[in-house]
Amino acid sequence: MPAARKSWIRAALIAVAAVVAVVGGFRFWSADGGAEAAVRLRPDDAAVIALGQKIHAAQCASCHGVRLEGQPNWRERGPDGRLPAPPRDASGHTWHHPDEVLFRITKLGVARAANLKDYASAMPAYEGVLSDAEIVAVLSWIKAQWPPAIRAKHDELSRTPSR
Ligand code: HEC
Repeated sequence: MPAARKSWIRAALIAVAAVVAVVGGFRFWSADGGAEAAVRLRPDDAAVIALGQKIHAAQCASCHGVRLEGQPNWRERGPDGRLPAPPRDASGHTWHHPDEVLFRITKLGVARAANLKDYASAMPAYEGVLSDAEIVAVLSWIKAQWPPAIRAKHDELSRTPSR
């Protein structure tokens, strides 16, 4: 085989290997939630929020309340040092977190989402329990319950980088 041809083949193989490495790396990175950058809640999608309401009733309402009222005295830690579930209506602070932060908290739990190693929280992590689409659905339903002014503020917040 002519030398020029050989080096062309080698260059092509290196290019393919580079693409595989980049794509593989990206996949690996998004497997731990990097894909949240693209998470967008869909409170205006009727099918999404119908699914979200069912998931909320089955998975979240026991702590957060059927109507998102949360648990009593949610600002005070219980005897176990853990906070009760906060309300997620306009009086709570859920809407202070942009889409991808809510997604991370639900998928990974508070400690991993906030990078707090020793933080004990009663909030379970739903990774492996709910799919990413189901997490988006339940959070979309929650958002659909907020008054329009809060939703508008949250839209704005979710357009800016996470905090
Ligand atoms: C076993 C009780 C429990 C269940 C079930 C539960 N949560 Fe929570 N959740 C909590 C508690 C307690 C907190 C407050 C965590 C803290 O700050 O330590 C919380 C906090 C959160 C937060 C962030 C705080 C905020 O501002 O609202 C989100 C988002 C959330 N939960 C979503 C969900 C979703 C979605 C589900 C169902 C898929 C769910 N939770 C089920 C107990 C629960």
